[in-house]
Amino acid sequence: MVTSSITTALLVLVLWATVLHGVEVDVEITCNKPCLHGGECVLSSDLCSGFKQTCNCPPSYTGEFCEKVVLRVNCDKACQNGGHCVVNVTEDTCTTVHKNCVCPQNYHGDLCQTFVPSTTVASTDSCDPTCTAGQGECVVLRNSQLAPHLKDRAYCNCSKSATGYYYGKQCQHYQQNVPCDPPCKNGGECTVAGRCNCRGTTSSGYDPGDCSMFSTDPCNPACENGGSCLGGACKCKSANDWHYSGSHCEKAVQCTPTCVNGVCYSYTSYGYNHTYCSCDSNSTGSYEGPTCDTFTATQCTPACVHGVCNYGRCSCDSNSTGRYEGPACDTFKAICVGDCLNGGVCGDGNGSTCLCSQEYTGTYCETYIGCPCQNNGTCIGQYCFCPMNSTGQFYGQLCDIFISSPPCYPSVLNGGLCSAGRAFCPYDDIGYFHGDQCEEYSVHNCSSSCVEPEVCVADQCRCPYNLAQGYAYIDFGLGGNKCGSKYYIWYEIET
Ligand SMILES: *[C@@H]1O[C@H](CO)[C@@H](O)[C@H](O)[C@H]1NC(C)=O
Ligand SMILES: *[C@@H]1O[C@H](CO)[C@@H](O)[C@H](O)[C@H]1NC(C)=O
Ligand SMILES: *[C@@H]1O[C@H](CO)[C@@H](O)[C@H](O)[C@H]1NC(C)=O
Ligand SMILES: *[C@@H]1O[C@H](CO)[C@@H](O)[C@H](O)[C@H]1NC(C)=O
Ligand SMILES: *[C@@H]1O[C@H](CO)[C@@H](O)[C@H](O)[C@H]1NC(C)=O
Ligand SMILES: *[C@@H]1O[C@H](CO)[C@@H](O)[C@H](O)[C@H]1NC(C)=O
Ligand SMILES: *[C@@H]1O[C@H](CO)[C@@H](O)[C@H](O)[C@H]1NC(C)=O
Ligand SMILES: *[C@@H]1O[C@H](CO)[C@@H](O)[C@H](O)[C@H]1NC(C)=O
Ligand SMILES: *[C@@H]1O[C@H](CO)[C@@H](O)[C@H](O)[C@H]1NC(C)=O
Repeated sequence: MVTSSITTALLVLVLWATVLHGVEVDVEITCNKPCLHGGECVLSSDLCSGFKQTCNCPPSYTGEFCEKVVLRVNCDKACQNGGHCVVNVTEDTCTTVHKNCVCPQNYHGDLCQTFVPSTTVASTDSCDPTCTAGQGECVVLRNSQLAPHLKDRAYCNCSKSATGYYYGKQCQHYQQNVPCDPPCKNGGECTVAGRCNCRGTTSSGYDPGDCSMFSTDPCNPACENGGSCLGGACKCKSANDWHYSGSHCEKAVQCTPTCVNGVCYSYTSYGYNHTYCSCDSNSTGSYEGPTCDTFTATQCTPACVHGVCNYGRCSCDSNSTGRYEGPACDTFKAICVGDCLNGGVCGDGNGSTCLCSQEYTGTYCETYIGCPCQNNGTCIGQYCFCPMNSTGQFYGQLCDIFISSPPCYPSVLNGGLCSAGRAFCPYDDIGYFHGDQCEEYSVHNCSSSCVEPEVCVADQCRCPYNLAQGYAYIDFGLGGNKCGSKYYIWYEIET
């Protein structure tokens, strides 16, 4: 902006000019540029044309005639992964100010939140030591674009066959596939580790491990009479007046008279269809009679003194100082008097003594007896948390049993590690690696802010783990002790 001393003085400039005959005359030049929005016309000397007129605009206006509005925009778009917020203006029917993120290489999306990896470059000479011929090929992954803290890395992409796969830094080892037992159903794929990868989604049922409930196959022929299709098979409906059966619920037998509070069932004996009603019941009693029309309350004997009768048994009342016990809930038993020590919790089924962690014993858990967990297992409350290494995992009540897992296939990348056949992938403040090989990187997306010691990983606040030092914190939730204990993951870096 021009300083105010000039702006007021130069509205009309009176100047001295020299004409041909050497007579000095006064020439008046009028500043008549039509400045808008209260702008002032100013004259100033100009090297080429002598003098020029400009508009001196008030704050918030700019342009040759102060015709443009200056709008201060806070570019506050929360660009991620090093993206920068920029502002641009479009003008069609209305003038709009846009805020956009300019993303670094490989990042896309409105907030630069999506990572799209560069294509990997196959190379034969950058793996050192070299990959075993015929068992794997060298691949260079430009990891520096994945996460700032990681460097480019070459690795051997080991091959696999129908019966097994190669693994190891040079693909020098061979592992036979673990068969899936029971075999995968409904087109599920048996992974090299012997687990079924089911087709379809969990919304169609639970996963029993063999994909038997995962089929998206339609029922052919379609289920009739209100039957539903689950895993390619019909699940028939039983109504209070009809019983449906058959592969597509096509058989229907009628209950006459209709079951009032129950469902109709049928069976065939000596060629005759027999029907009966299966009566409804609840915790206070059940319907009875040929058509389930009579409700008979189930009695508790003896009657409940401090409690409610539930399926013929008393369910006793309790409060913060104790609870009623006995068949009729007539005896009050106080809960632990005096605090349980050393992480013990009150309640042993009778509710009056301390339940101690494995390392302590005594009325108040005052006597230390040591952690009974074997093989470097960690004592957490009543349980042993058992360590794992790259070839398998300890389990059992005392971590006394070792089960082997097949090695990870394919190789784990980006500083991840293979432990007990699973890939553990690193994370940083911005995002986390995931995928079978830890090959993908995504930005964290936690809806709530995590309270230390928890950290945001993927979409959840979780207890932290430290792959460099081989441990994970465990969220055991015992007595509100979140992320209370360290649990060591063992692994070896293959040399
Ligand atoms: C300006 O922003 C609009 C809306 O986000 C976008 O479509 C357009 O490409 C941007 N123009 C420039 C030059 O960045
Ligand atoms: C690794 O090898 C498999 C075939 O064994 C191939 O499908 C895959 O694309 C390779 N991965 C890379 C990153 O080259
Ligand atoms: C029994 O029920 C089946 C299925 O509805 C029907 O086909 C059959 O004829 C019935 N048998 C008799 C003896 O009613
Ligand atoms: C059980 O069923 C009976 C009869 O329909 C009803 O009166 C009673 O409230 C039910 N009890 C419960 C706990 O639902
Ligand atoms: C719990 O119940 C017992 C026995 O009825 C009673 O003596 C005690 O005052 C109750 N405690 C509380 C906190 O209500
Ligand atoms: C409950 O107390 C009875 C007698 O006081 C005892 O025999 C029983 O073992 C106790 N139950 C548990 C789970 O400790
Ligand atoms: C327990 O871990 C230590 C190192 O922390 C190791 O030296 C020792 O061999 C391990 N013990 C067992 C039983 O594996
Ligand atoms: C993992 O632990 C088991 C059981 O102690 C042991 O047999 C195996 O050799 C270990 N694996 C490695 C790679 O050290
Ligand atoms: C973050 O999570 C929310 C809620 O689950 C979801 O709607 C949104 O698409 C996610 N954003 C990204 C970038 O994944």
